[in-house]
Amino acid sequence: MNEFGVRFRIGVFGASHGPAVGAKVEGCPPGFKISEAVIQAELDRRAPGKGPLTTSRAERDRLEIISGVHNGKATGGPIVGLVRNKDTDSSAYDAFLRVPRPGHADYPAMVKYGGHHDHRGGGQFSGRMTAALVIGGAIARQVLDKHGVSVLAQTVQIGKVRLTKDVPFSIAERTARASPVGCADRTVGMQMVSEIVRAHEDKDSVGGVVKCTVMGLPVGVGEPFFDSVESDISSMMFSIPGVKGVEFGSGFKCAEMRGSEHNDPFAIKDGRVVTKTNNAGGILGGLTDGMPVEFRVAFKPTSSIAKPQLSVDIVDLKPIELEIKGRHDPCIVPRAVPVVENAAAAVMLDLMLRGGFI
Ligand SMILES: Cc1cc2nc3c(=O)[nH]c(=O)nc-3n(C[C@H](O)[C@H](O)[C@H](O)COP(=O)(O)O)c2cc1C
Repeated sequence: MNEFGVRFRIGVFGASHGPAVGAKVEGCPPGFKISEAVIQAELDRRAPGKGPLTTSRAERDRLEIISGVHNGKATGGPIVGLVRNKDTDSSAYDAFLRVPRPGHADYPAMVKYGGHHDHRGGGQFSGRMTAALVIGGAIARQVLDKHGVSVLAQTVQIGKVRLTKDVPFSIAERTARASPVGCADRTVGMQMVSEIVRAHEDKDSVGGVVKCTVMGLPVGVGEPFFDSVESDISSMMFSIPGVKGVEFGSGFKCAEMRGSEHNDPFAIKDGRVVTKTNNAGGILGGLTDGMPVEFRVAFKPTSSIAKPQLSVDIVDLKPIELEIKGRHDPCIVPRAVPVVENAAAAVMLDLMLRGGFI
């Protein structure tokens, strides 16, 4: 459905070329002081920029909160926040009802909804819907911040360019935010920019990987079985359009390791139980173990590319060559970094509220 969470709940509404996109957020503690500036700053990170790295769609994404906040504090009622859609050009999209874009949602959506879905700009399947996740998550991160929990997402791969070194959290918090691609290392970040520009010049697109770290979590966050930390985080991450993989800690690499390598040895540091390594990604038995929660999210290359591609005319049932003319991100990843970060905050706040930690 269009809602996520139990105690902290985000519902998304709107469509890419409709009047607005937004979130209904429930479960923010009443009386909590909400900074609209913080939410706006997160929306600004997600908004398209200028230049070859993002779509030329010029949306300023000005936040409007229309309920649930009074005198700067949460009232306890649903918080409804939205951004209006201003720069819409739907002219290219009618064609996709007949000739679906390879890699996009056009074909299955057409069959499922019998053509009644709002297909303009990708409708509900558009990356624009992630503004709603940012609005909800940016409220959650403010609550988490008061409880010493911080979340950071950073780009660690674009196409074949990888960030292989670990940049310490406190440095990455600053450098990744300052980078046009969300990379914590300046030199690797520049190579990532070139990788995107090259794909764009080739009328093509490129994918990548976002790493997310949650620091300061107590031990034992997570609910039994179906609501393990991994289950809820991955469910949220797979809701982000374009996501094709999520892995925690050492991830799929665990398959080639021995138990003696993969087990994170326990130790005592400053009177606290810690582990010497973090192959588990801070999660054991679906519960946080007190180490940073770490996961990586793989994004596919944007499907809407200017290069001619093979599709079919679903009325004539004939093959056809498709050239996409609309405005698209040559790489989803730089704009997805704040989405991953804020969406992760929403999941962790929900689990902390459910576990009685807040
Ligand atoms: C921030 C963001 C921006 C996106 N921009 C585009 C875009 O410009 N063009 C496009 O075809 N897909 C874009 N996408 C991805 C599509 O929305 C997505 O691929 C499509 O809905 C199909 O869903 P799936 O890839 O999860 O299968 C974007 C996704 C995100 C998160």
